[in-house]
Amino acid sequence: MIEQTWSIGTVTIDGKAILAPMAGVSDIAYRLLAKEHKAALVCTEMVSAMGIKYKNERTNELLRMEDVEHPVSMQIFGSNPEAIALGAKVVEAAGADIVDINMGCPVKKVVSSGDGSALMKHPDLAARVAEAAVKAVKVPVTVKMRIGWDSDSINVVDFAKRIESTGVAAIAVHGRTKEQMYSGQADWSYIKAVKEVVNIPVIGNGDIVEPSDAKRMLDETGCDAVMIGRGAQGNPWIFERIHHYLLTGDILPGPTYMERIDMLLTHFQLLCHYKGAALGVKEIRTHAGWYLRGLPESAYWRNRINTIHTVKSFEREIEAYRNLLKDM
Ligand SMILES: Cc1cc2nc3c(=O)[nH]c(=O)nc-3n(C[C@H](O)[C@H](O)[C@H](O)COP(=O)(O)O)c2cc1C
Repeated sequence: MIEQTWSIGTVTIDGKAILAPMAGVSDIAYRLLAKEHKAALVCTEMVSAMGIKYKNERTNELLRMEDVEHPVSMQIFGSNPEAIALGAKVVEAAGADIVDINMGCPVKKVVSSGDGSALMKHPDLAARVAEAAVKAVKVPVTVKMRIGWDSDSINVVDFAKRIESTGVAAIAVHGRTKEQMYSGQADWSYIKAVKEVVNIPVIGNGDIVEPSDAKRMLDETGCDAVMIGRGAQGNPWIFERIHHYLLTGDILPGPTYMERIDMLLTHFQLLCHYKGAALGVKEIRTHAGWYLRGLPESAYWRNRINTIHTVKSFEREIEAYRNLLKDM
């Protein structure tokens, strides 16, 4: 049996399955669901260090968290050490238990400013960015990275060592290059290679969709914990299923149709609570696609949900779909 308790610097983590930072997904509503379903650590959507510097209103929204979420890792991005230091201080003051720096984002808008995965092309600057955060806050700082910019410049092993030397408390490695974006298969061998050369915890990331994948990554790479992104979309159960499997060797069944419908409704209510009905109605559409994947007649119900504009009509549609599924 794998020991479940470990730590990132001074922060004790109880469990091995971590919710990945995902813009548009790992918001307060979803983090609460992931936490309730035993995510060992939840990570926020990335927050721009520059946005913090200029007191952007949307950024303030992203900084909100609930007590029950702790421990929370709050992710910032940027390539200006001064802005990162300020950003780290602000998220620490907002309640972050861990400050994570994004060095893996492949999105054009981000890399064109030299942020996210663009930092992997400039290890010296990346190290200055990490060091600035480490010096600015008392809480542990972590860095999330890819394996390199493209297949000709895979540098994660040296990069991770360089970043470790700045005093960060853990590293997360997504086993793809920036060029790969999210396509192809994540190469876990680089997670293993990083684990072999650094003395801080390594979090493995990429392509975990089933409890057995989590165990395989832990076994094959020796990483300290696993981080789940797309496998957690519309699927907060993945965390408790991994937890249970690692503890007992038994695979819990996935959620029933009814459980998925009910979770969709709960998720919707949380979104409305935290963001208001107008945004809730809009944002639930993406999540609905995930919760309803593979359910009978889901395309029809997804289309209906996509045309809804009020809380009441959403609840009515869900109730109608529930009634239909009850008889199946
Ligand atoms: C919709 C979406 C948004 C993401 N946003 C972020 C982000 O804000 N910060 C970050 O470090 N990674 C982000 N990622 C990358 C994930 O954290 C993760 O590294 C990647 O999806 C690979 O893991 P997976 O195979 O489990 O999905 C995002 C991924 C997706 C699919």
